[in-house]
Amino acid sequence: MVKIIGICGSPRRKSSYAALREALDGALETGDVEVELIELRARKLNFCIHCNKCLREDAVRCTVYEDDMTPLYEKVYQADGMIIASPVYEMNITAQLAAFFNRFRPTWNIIKKDPTFFNRKVGAAIAVGGTRNGGQEGALNAILGFYHTQGMVVCNGGAGTYAGASLWNPGDGSGEMDDPEGLKRARALGAKMADLTKRLNLDN
Ligand SMILES: Cc1cc2nc3c(=O)[nH]c(=O)nc-3n(C[C@H](O)[C@H](O)[C@H](O)COP(=O)(O)O)c2cc1C
Repeated sequence: MVKIIGICGSPRRKSSYAALREALDGALETGDVEVELIELRARKLNFCIHCNKCLREDAVRCTVYEDDMTPLYEKVYQADGMIIASPVYEMNITAQLAAFFNRFRPTWNIIKKDPTFFNRKVGAAIAVGGTRNGGQEGALNAILGFYHTQGMVVCNGGAGTYAGASLWNPGDGSGEMDDPEGLKRARALGAKMADLTKRLNLDN
């Protein structure tokens, strides 16, 4: 049984949430998978201030702020794989998701001791814009950048879906998610990354 977490970078429970839910359902459908969806919505996340206190103290989490980020470290460390979804904001990820990523500076302490710690963790990306070509690729690359910095294995969306699932929810963002093709790709991405995660963790 592998554990896959979904992290939703939206401040709302709306289109990115729907896309991520779909991807996690795709992962579940492959069997032998446990999933958990974590929302950054309504969490108070302080910004990393690059004080390097975590590095000096050899900590595996931020030791300056005790906030809504604190419980999320263990979720990431214990996951075998993760799917991260972000709305597209100014052709990039949300500030919430960027703050979340920046708080992982202490993983350097983990990697120093065990360079293989993230080697078999798999990451996949989803981006949802309000327009068809509104910067989804930039947002996907920002998410993949997080995986690369940790040394994780990146799962792409397969031929034709490229770096991850790109969706759009036309209009001012108040309508329900209505992108059947995008949702189909998100579901396929979830299944693909679950399959890859299981193959990489056969001996676990
Ligand atoms: C501050 C802000 C910036 C946005 N910038 C973009 C953008 O650059 N490109 C785009 O396609 N949509 C943009 N949008 C629209 C959202 O990406 C779109 O409504 C998306 O579906 C929201 O995701 P959510 O429903 O999960 O919150 C922006 C929305 C906001 C609030």
